Amino acid sequence: MTTPRVLVFDSGVGGLSIAECIHRQLPGVGLVYVADNAGFPYGNQPESVVVERSQALIGAALDEFPCDVVVVACNTASTVVLPHLRAMTSTPVIGVVPAVKPAVALSVNRRIGVLATPATVRRPYLKNLIDEFAGDCTVERLGHPDLVYWIERLVTGTPVPEEALHAALQPFRDAGVDTVVLGCTHYPLITGTLRAQLPEVKFWVDSGDAIARRTAWLLEKQGHAPGSLEQPRGSVAVEAALFTGAVPEGLEAFLSRLELGSDDIRGHWATSAAGITATGSA
Ligand code: DGL
Repeated sequence: MTTPRVLVFDSGVGGLSIAECIHRQLPGVGLVYVADNAGFPYGNQPESVVVERSQALIGAALDEFPCDVVVVACNTASTVVLPHLRAMTSTPVIGVVPAVKPAVALSVNRRIGVLATPATVRRPYLKNLIDEFAGDCTVERLGHPDLVYWIERLVTGTPVPEEALHAALQPFRDAGVDTVVLGCTHYPLITGTLRAQLPEVKFWVDSGDAIARRTAWLLEKQGHAPGSLEQPRGSVAVEAALFTGAVPEGLEAFLSRLELGSDDIRGHWATSAAGITATGSA
């Protein structure tokens, strides 16, 4: 049986928080990371553009690197693209949803905060999750327009503006939430900063470990022995890191901090093959 390989897709570097969890749980798995940073942020794109770009790029990546599982490591994309991707490929596709259900299980005071992009906060997908699982909780939804940009810049060495972040998080203090759902895959990359800003929050919930468990389950179902998934590969974790725009400066160091090395980092990848431009589909 060949070495298992998983494609992790996001609009930027946020999906690396998911790649990190997959690698920690399953060091025997090879990862291919695709970031559509020429189309970033997906929250500002019409839904049809997100669908078109995700399909084109994931299709191009699977042609070059056949994979056993596709992980859409982006909440904003997952709210709209999953059925389209599943119709396009027979490779199993996992999406990321804000971890509302696990947060409800943890919250003691029944007050929960959901931090996400404005697009995720706006879409019916999140409302449906809250209606289904958080009926007995007060849920404060906070869609932050800039946090994803700040975290992208963090890779290049620009620190997150802490004062502005502190002010933006005030609704969570006012609501007295004891649990916060990180409903965007970029946010776990700054959990330390968020914890320091909201020390009264007891539980921080993201989807990374659950996605890694689901990935393991799908790979085992395809016949990969659990032992082979957990046995380190002895080569770099990320077989290829493919960016549709320029590779962010400082990426290599950022990857090493997450213990995700790669020998194959490419910018301006697949844009012509996938018919994709920086501003939308060509
Ligand atoms: N990492 C994406 C998410 O989880 C970023 C959002 C965006 O591109 O707007 O939602």
